[in-house]
Amino acid sequence: MTTKKIRIGLVGSGYMGKAHAIAYHNAMVAFAIPKGVLVCEMLADASPELAAEKAKELGFSRSTGDWKTLVNDPDIEVVDICAPNFLHKEIALAAIAAGKHVYSEKPLALNADDAKDMTQAAELAGVKTLVGFNYIKNPTVQFAKQLIERGDIGEVVHFRGVFNEDYLADENVPFSWRLQKQFAGTGALNDLASHIVQLAIHLVSPITSLCADLKIVHEQRPLSQGSSASKGGFGQVENDDQAHMMVRFENGAQGTIEASRIAWGKKNGLSFEVTGTKGSLTFDQETLSELSLYIAEGNPQTQGFKRILVGPEHPDYSAFCVSAGHGLGYNDMKAVEVRDLYKSIVNDTPLWPDFRAATQVNIILDKVIESYENRAWVEVEQYDGEQK
Ligand code: NAI
Repeated sequence: MTTKKIRIGLVGSGYMGKAHAIAYHNAMVAFAIPKGVLVCEMLADASPELAAEKAKELGFSRSTGDWKTLVNDPDIEVVDICAPNFLHKEIALAAIAAGKHVYSEKPLALNADDAKDMTQAAELAGVKTLVGFNYIKNPTVQFAKQLIERGDIGEVVHFRGVFNEDYLADENVPFSWRLQKQFAGTGALNDLASHIVQLAIHLVSPITSLCADLKIVHEQRPLSQGSSASKGGFGQVENDDQAHMMVRFENGAQGTIEASRIAWGKKNGLSFEVTGTKGSLTFDQETLSELSLYIAEGNPQTQGFKRILVGPEHPDYSAFCVSAGHGLGYNDMKAVEVRDLYKSIVNDTPLWPDFRAATQVNIILDKVIESYENRAWVEVEQYDGEQK
């Protein structure tokens, strides 16, 4: 195994920046990556002071208030983007131009055209790309994928996916970048539904058409100190609190996808039900180490959902724990993601989901807006990497 150091440059040290920093440390321990190979080298944030403070806290050796310094630093091999959505494209394109691998948080871009530009640049440059759709890295979800692929529930005929949270359910939660189109793009759609869309494609098959609805429920929010948008002490919310869609998959299955950022009581409410011709399975991220499986066989009197607690027999679980049913956490999924990044760089193998896969998600999110605006079903093209 290589002991060549891979130096990471992290841009943005908020919620996700911290999760990534933890993941670099945890991945080395969980997956026996030689000590010190993943180096938390430099952290960039919006000001030099904030960057210096966060670099100290998260274990990065150097810091800068200008992400361009980080991107162009000759020692940095991976640029890890945990900044708000609107910065992903500019930072990624600069990193690619400097020959760096790019690990970006989702959504990849504010729209499909930008995502295509990013994919084309990365593929031309031959750098590795990875997008933080971490929920598919959970051992339980990897197991669900195995069950579907080997036909245990028969042919998939229906998918129901939900991602509800309540981080904006209180209408007095202050205005932020997440509520402005120029910084976040869409709302619950980009932030939450993007994960479910990517999961649906991963578990079922490509989405080929959809019909969607969006709604802003809380139209204004109080401005916090220093905020730019103003309307008498309130900021005007510009993007959806709730997003719904009906979808059709390439394999003929039907599906529904919903997301809300104002669903009281839901903290990490990502769940899905997959119905097949021989059985079904259900998953809820709030109990992320459990999968419910129903197989229609045997005595009807004793048929029912079986509750499976994941353990060392399931993909990637044993890296974290030798005992079944002890449960993993959100940060462990990020460690699996970092393990994938490490292996891909060291072995020069493909990464998943890469910019190309994430571009297909952006195409679908754009189609949601088109469907909503025209109040109609729309066809979804499959990204072939060619013209915009
Ligand atoms: P956040 O607001 O907590 O953190 C953003 C960070 O970027 C802050 O440290 C901020 O100071 C920094 N930043 C802002 N402007 C900058 C600039 N010009 N240069 C350098 N740094 C700058 O946001 P959060 O929640 O961490 O979201 C970041 C990204 O992660 C978003 O794209 C979001 O969609 C994604 N995300 C992904 C999740 C997942 O489960 N995969 C969960 C939450 C967020």
